[in-house]
Amino acid sequence: MIESSRVNEILYGGDYNPEQWPEETWEKDMELLKQAHINVLTLNVFSWGLLQPEENRYDFSMLDRIMDMVRAHGFKVFLATSTGAHPAWMVKKYPDVIRVDGTGNRRKFGRRHVMCPNSPNYRKFSVALAGELAKRYADYDNIVAWHVNNEYNGACYCEYCERGFREWLKKRYGTLDKVNEAWNANFWSHTFHAWDEIVAPNFLSEMHQRWDDSRTTFQGIALDYARFMSDSLQTCFNLEKAAIKAYTPEIPVSTNLMGLQKTIDMYKWAKSMDFIAWDSYPSYTEEPAEVAMRHEIMRGLQHGRAFALVEQTPGVNNWEEYCRMKRPGAVRLLSYQAMAHGSDTVMFFQMKRSPGACEKFHGAVIDHSARADTRVFRDIASLGAELQDKLGSRTLGGRTKAEIAILFDWENWWAVEYSAGLTAHMDYIADVLNYYRALFQEHYSVDIVGVEEDFSNYKLVIAPLLYMTKDGFDEKLRAYVREGGTFVTTFFSGYVDESDRVISGGYPGKWQDIMGLWVEESDGLPPEERNSFLYHGKEYSAGFICDLLRPEGAEPLAVYQQDFYAGVPVIARNRFGKGTAWHIGTRSDESFYRELLTEICGELGILPILRNVPDGVEVTLRENENGSFLFLLNHRTEETSFPLQCGGTELLSEKNYHAGELLSLPGRGVAILRQG
Ligand code: GLA
Ligand code: ZN
Repeated sequence: MIESSRVNEILYGGDYNPEQWPEETWEKDMELLKQAHINVLTLNVFSWGLLQPEENRYDFSMLDRIMDMVRAHGFKVFLATSTGAHPAWMVKKYPDVIRVDGTGNRRKFGRRHVMCPNSPNYRKFSVALAGELAKRYADYDNIVAWHVNNEYNGACYCEYCERGFREWLKKRYGTLDKVNEAWNANFWSHTFHAWDEIVAPNFLSEMHQRWDDSRTTFQGIALDYARFMSDSLQTCFNLEKAAIKAYTPEIPVSTNLMGLQKTIDMYKWAKSMDFIAWDSYPSYTEEPAEVAMRHEIMRGLQHGRAFALVEQTPGVNNWEEYCRMKRPGAVRLLSYQAMAHGSDTVMFFQMKRSPGACEKFHGAVIDHSARADTRVFRDIASLGAELQDKLGSRTLGGRTKAEIAILFDWENWWAVEYSAGLTAHMDYIADVLNYYRALFQEHYSVDIVGVEEDFSNYKLVIAPLLYMTKDGFDEKLRAYVREGGTFVTTFFSGYVDESDRVISGGYPGKWQDIMGLWVEESDGLPPEERNSFLYHGKEYSAGFICDLLRPEGAEPLAVYQQDFYAGVPVIARNRFGKGTAWHIGTRSDESFYRELLTEICGELGILPILRNVPDGVEVTLRENENGSFLFLLNHRTEETSFPLQCGGTELLSEKNYHAGELLSLPGRGVAILRQG
C-alpha cells in the first residue's frame, strides 16, 4: 500500500518518456492521456544522459518543463531517479561504473541495468543525482512515490566487487577457517590461507557452462556471492533512498521489482522498500495460476500489505519470440487479477510508443498513429473510466486472509538450482507452482511467504523443495507441528544448511523426527520415464524425482508400482505432537495435487473461498474497512454461469445478487461482489 495522503484512488497510468519527441507534441499527449483516464505518470526513468551532460553540470531544464506540464494537467507522478542507465561520458571517464561480466570482460558503454554496484564512482554519482532530484522537486505536491533506479538485477565480477566480497565474508564468518568450513573447501584443494586468495566465482573461476545453464563447481562460494550481489544492489537502493529522504521524508520510496527475478533476495529487499512495486509481464504461453502465483509472492513480501503493479503492457510484449497481441478483454482481466491479489494500482509500460530503439514496438497506450480510436487506446480508456467510476477508493488497502501458506525462499532457489544432482533440471518454481496451482484451481485462499514468517496463523504450511534449512528453522517447524500445525513437504527438502553443507545423518536432516522417516535414495528420472503409485485407489504418475522412503513412525500411504523399488513408500504421513507432517516423495500430476490438497484442507476444516465455481474461474477475497470484495475472474474465452453461494452487490454492473442466484461471466469477464 502506498501510504501517502496524496493517494486516494486507484492509480492508473505508467511510464511516460516524452524526452523522445518534439516538445510541441507533448500537449496532445496530455489530452490523450486524460481522455484515457490516466491519473499517474512515471517520469524520468532513463534520462541520466540528459540530466547530467558532463561531470560537473546538471541540466534539469527539460525535466522541469515536463514536471510543470504534468502538474498543470493534474497528473500525479512516480518520479524516477534515472540511475538504471549511465551517461556515456561517465563510462568513458570512469570505466569502473560499469560491470565486468561472468567471463571477466569489462563491458563498454551500452544497454542498461549494467552498473557495478560496488563502484565508488557509480555510488557517488547515482546518490548525488538522487539527492539533486529530491531537492529540486521536493515541493511538487503531486509526487506520490519515488521510483529508484529500475529493475535491479544481475551481478558484477570486477575488482571492486571481488574486494567487497572479501569484506562481506569477513563480516559474515569472522575467520577464514569458518569460510573454509562453510564451503567445504578441503575438497579439490580449495583451502584458503589468506583472504585475497578468494576470487569472484565467475567463468574464470568456479562457473562453467553445462547443459543449457551456467553452473558452479563450488556451491558454497556461489551462494555467498549471490547473497553478496543482492546485498550490494540493495545498498545502492538504500543509499539513493537516504539521499531522497533527506529532502522528501514523507514521500514513499520504492523500486520496480521483477516478480520472480532470481538474483534479488526480495524478502530482504522488502525491508528497505516503503511499499512493494513490481512489473508483471506474463507471456501468452503462461497459465493464469502462474501469474497469480507471482502476485501472491509479491503480496507476501511485506506480510500481506497491498502492493503496486507499476508496469504491464497495454498491448504486446515486444521481447517475445512471437509478439502475440493481448486478446480483447485480456488487459482488463490481467489488471483486475492484479487487484484481486493485492494491487492498489494498475500501471503500464508505456504511455506512448517510442519512435526508435529497442522498445519501439512494445505495447503502449498511445501508439505511433497517435490516435484515440485504436482498439488498445479505447480498451485502456474504458478500463480507466470503470476503475474510477465503479471502484474509486473502495478496494484500497484490502487484505487477504488465508489459512494456507506456501513457503518460498530466494536463497533456497539459488541453492536448489546450483546443486549438481538429483537432476540437472531441478526447477524450484515448477514445484512451487504444482502445489499453488492445485489450490488456485480449488479456489482456496493462499499466502506465499518467506521462511521467517510466523506460521502460527496458518493451519497448513506447504514447503515444496525446501532444500535449504536455515538456522532455527527446524525448531520453528517442530514447534509448529507439535502444536497442531500441518506441514507438507516434498523430495529434496531439508538437506542442507545455509552454506549448502549437507546435514549429515540422513535426509531430511534435522526434520527426520518431525517427518517420522528418512530418505534412503532418490532416482532422477528422464522425462520419458515414469513410475506410478496408487492413492485412494486411483493410479497417479510419479516422475522427475522418486524418493525411496524409509518410514520410522510415519505411515506409508502410497508405494511405487514399478521398477526394482516397487512396494517402497513414496508418500508418508507422520503424526507428530498434535500435528501432522506429510512427505510427498515425487512429482506427480495435476489431478493428484488437487485430490491431495482437497483432502488435507477438508480434514483441517479449511474452506474454499467459494463453492461450485467452475474450472477456469479464479476467485479471491480482499477485505478492508469498506467491506469484503469477492473477485471473480473468468479466464476462459467462453461465457460461464454458476449459482452464487453468497449475495452482494456486483460493483462493475451495479447489480444486486442474492445467495443462490446465477452469475453469468462473459469470456474474460470480471465481477467484484461487495459484501458487508
Ligand atoms: C521493463 C522495464 C521497462 C521496459 C519494459 C518493457 O519492465 O522496466 O523499462 O523495458 O520492461 O517490457
Ligand atoms: Zn563490480
